[in-house]
Amino acid sequence: MGWSWILIIQLNFLIGNADGYDPLDPNGNIAIKWDVLQWSSSSYDARVSIINYQLYRHIETPGWKLSWTWPGDEVIWDMWGALAHEQGNCSEFKGEQLPYCCEKTPLILDRGPGTPFNKQVANCCRDGLLTSMIQDPSKHGAMFQMNVGTASSNVSDMTMPRNFSLGVPGYTCGDPFQVPPSRFPEEGGRRWTQALMTWNVSCSYSQFLASTAPTCCVSLSAFYNSTIVPCPQCSCGCEGIPGTKCAKPGETPLLLPQGDGQQPDLVRCSRHMCPIRVHWHVKTSYREYWRVKITVTNLNLVKNYSAWNLVVLHPNLQSITQVFSFNYRSLNEHGTINDTGMFWGIQYYNELLLQAGESGNVQTEMLLHKDPGIFTFREGWAFPRKISFNGDQCVMPSPDEYPRLPNTGPSATPPSLCIILLLSLSVIVML
Ligand SMILES: *[C@@H]1O[C@H](CO)[C@@H](O)[C@H](O)[C@H]1NC(C)=O
Ligand SMILES: *[C@@H]1O[C@H](CO)[C@@H](O)[C@H](O)[C@H]1NC(C)=O
Ligand SMILES: *[C@@H]1O[C@H](CO)[C@@H](O)[C@H](O)[C@H]1NC(C)=O
Ligand SMILES: *[C@@H]1O[C@H](CO)[C@@H](O)[C@H](O)[C@H]1NC(C)=O
Ligand SMILES: *[C@@H]1O[C@H](CO)[C@@H](O)[C@H](O)[C@H]1NC(C)=O
Ligand SMILES: *[C@@H]1O[C@H](CO)[C@@H](O)[C@H](O)[C@H]1NC(C)=O
Ligand SMILES: *[C@@H]1O[C@H](CO)[C@@H](O)[C@H](O)[C@H]1NC(C)=O
Repeated sequence: MGWSWILIIQLNFLIGNADGYDPLDPNGNIAIKWDVLQWSSSSYDARVSIINYQLYRHIETPGWKLSWTWPGDEVIWDMWGALAHEQGNCSEFKGEQLPYCCEKTPLILDRGPGTPFNKQVANCCRDGLLTSMIQDPSKHGAMFQMNVGTASSNVSDMTMPRNFSLGVPGYTCGDPFQVPPSRFPEEGGRRWTQALMTWNVSCSYSQFLASTAPTCCVSLSAFYNSTIVPCPQCSCGCEGIPGTKCAKPGETPLLLPQGDGQQPDLVRCSRHMCPIRVHWHVKTSYREYWRVKITVTNLNLVKNYSAWNLVVLHPNLQSITQVFSFNYRSLNEHGTINDTGMFWGIQYYNELLLQAGESGNVQTEMLLHKDPGIFTFREGWAFPRKISFNGDQCVMPSPDEYPRLPNTGPSATPPSLCIILLLSLSVIVML
């Protein structure tokens, strides 16, 4: 056995991520659906839906910013549930009413909750945020509607626009393809209407496209060893490299919003320079159970993480018994092994992970059953194989640094209860 299994598992995940394929969420993507609802000689109505089918990735602030490129001289005459950022050059139109947007590549922004009623549609106006399917299936979609015409001629044949983009780092969208028309229930499902035509566009995520550097790291400790294994050095960046900015303790740096009104990220100076640190502490051993404490710390001074989540891979999650202060759901509950689970905050309690300096951490403890035959504290088995935060993989310490049981090689017997008690006492004193 030895450590080789950890290496193999970690390699697997790296390879799995490289092409954007996620083995834990194989069908996870964001779908853009384009329904043509009505047709007249001069224009048509289209309803556009953006639906997040990902189990644990969500779209957070500043939200999606959808764009596409019209094939001809199409313009948008009116829009509900969203905004076109620029009206553009409408000088070809001489009538009393100008189009709403004449851009060749319009940029569409979501509206907020304060939108006037006559500019809303169903499922609109959430500032561009989409929850993950598991966290809130009622808010994982967005919708807007528009009236499309052309500058030069009547609309006789519709050609779909191309080059769709969600405007969120890491996502790339494919070409639109026509699918059977959407159907809409009426009269409580006793009658169904349908779109004239429907197209789908599928957008998928790749962590490598989103950011060249990781954004999260893992540190480890255990009651049976006083060593705290920190995040690997330079996990997300290296302190002191020219061009790298960070905030020293006690320092309140001057923060200026950039051109788009967004604050640039600023993290606390550390050996790992990650905005997020996840600490896994093997806390207690009982006769039939063992207890783990997980602490997520936000080291970013300018960002609150709303609706954060953690995905953890550990073989003992198949017999997780109790989770305190977090929501939990097994991610592969229909497969043969359920060794992966998702943790997220409880509404109004800890679903918001505040910026560093404002008690920026959330904690959970969980109770796991010691499955006979597989459970052991030896060889780092009690530590997670993989952790990701908001869908992005965290950097783990190297397995040969994991806290070891005292005085043991891999083949020695487990320590007596007495040693464990002594050590856990010393850990408590140290913390
Ligand atoms: C098109 O997208 C919808 C969701 O927007 C999805 O339910 C449907 O399965 C997709 N159709 C095809 C043929 O991929
Ligand atoms: C606006 O469009 C018209 C016609 O397409 C063009 O002649 C004019 O130069 C454009 N104006 C600007 C400022 O781009
Ligand atoms: C568009 O169609 C309408 C009615 O069919 C017609 O009256 C109008 O002249 C057409 N306009 C152009 C620019 O072809
Ligand atoms: C789409 O984008 C690609 C690259 O950005 C460009 O080469 C292509 O011409 C664009 N297509 C359209 C229809 O604008
Ligand atoms: C984060 O939340 C706190 C408390 O609600 C607030 O004071 C702070 O301005 C927020 N920070 C950002 C960057 O939105
Ligand atoms: C894991 O799967 C087994 C059956 O395959 C099931 O009995 C058990 O309840 C599952 N555990 C969790 C935490 O979902
Ligand atoms: C604790 O773990 C570290 C790292 O594996 C190891 O070097 C050290 O010897 C262990 N301490 C004891 C008391 O066994």
